[in-house]
Amino acid sequence: MRNLLALLVFIPLQILFIPLAIVGAISVGYKQLIVSKRLGVSQTAIEIINGRWTMHIFGLRDDPAAAKLAPALPNTSTFGLWLALFPLYVHTGICGSPKWYPVIAKLGEEGVANLVTNRTGYFDSIIDSAKENAEQFVLMGAGLDTRAYNSLKNSRLKIFELDQPVVQQLKRQYLQKAGIDAAHVTFVETNFSQDDWLDALTAAGYDPSKPTIFLWEGVTLYLGEKSVRNTLRTVQANAAEGSVLVADIYAKSFVAGEYARGMKATLPVLDMTAEQLGFGIEMAGDYQYALESFVTSEGLALGETYFMGYKTEKGPWMVVAELKV
Ligand SMILES: C[S@@+](CC[C@H](N)C(=O)[O-])C[C@H]1O[C@@H](n2cnc3c(N)ncnc32)[C@H](O)[C@@H]1O
Repeated sequence: MRNLLALLVFIPLQILFIPLAIVGAISVGYKQLIVSKRLGVSQTAIEIINGRWTMHIFGLRDDPAAAKLAPALPNTSTFGLWLALFPLYVHTGICGSPKWYPVIAKLGEEGVANLVTNRTGYFDSIIDSAKENAEQFVLMGAGLDTRAYNSLKNSRLKIFELDQPVVQQLKRQYLQKAGIDAAHVTFVETNFSQDDWLDALTAAGYDPSKPTIFLWEGVTLYLGEKSVRNTLRTVQANAAEGSVLVADIYAKSFVAGEYARGMKATLPVLDMTAEQLGFGIEMAGDYQYALESFVTSEGLALGETYFMGYKTEKGPWMVVAELKV
């Protein structure tokens, strides 16, 4: 009954909202692409905070810091997101939970539309189990991730955020504008394509003798294989036993834009902010073996894994994996 009522309200509302939704989508797209390019910062980090803001608003995952930071940023528009999503929000309110978007798919049934929702949950789950034994939390390529400003703020973890200087400057400026306290976070300017990133982390107070969670979410696909391998090797050689690195690793077909129809045509958009896709592993055959061989070849052991899309006809396109030191 609720579902029928929701549909009866949703259909006319969505029709009325079509022009507004177009304006909303254009304003979000303009800010994400053009303003990010003008500022010289990552547009893909915006994709994630938009997704996290949406999950928070639709009641899928609490992220009060993202709810405060996103509206303050110059390169996204939460007003535009509201215009695009309001009919779905009303539909969700009547049904009690989102039915079409944003949704968390069942493990193995994820499509590309579930990238942010499912991936975030898998990372949260691995972090939750690992944090009991950890003393440090290093966000590698932190972008606009707000994990450090929610419940982890009150944990005993010493928190470091690593990213490119221009991205960190933007984040720090707008955390302040949004009234989010970042005093407990140590910011370290990095480039994973250069070998000295660990020196910068150590100089900032990282202690290699303490068990640490390294979070590498949404980054490997923008790097080359050499940088990914060097980074894994560096963590392996400079982290205490019991430390874990949590990363998402993509299928070769995904980074080549061949996984889904129309994907290839969208890839040039990433050129605007120099975020071309690079590293992926072969997942067409025995994907578990492929991942295990890759991870062990860098001296790490495989822990929990979440292969996204593995139950679908096309097979897995990404894995969120816990790599143990
Ligand atoms: C898709 S965003 C992910 C941000 C964040 N981890 C999250 O999940 O919200 C990718 C981030 O990786 C950073 N990044 C990409 N290449 C990098 C590199 N070579 N060195 C340091 N950071 C890099 C970008 O600046 C951007 O913030």
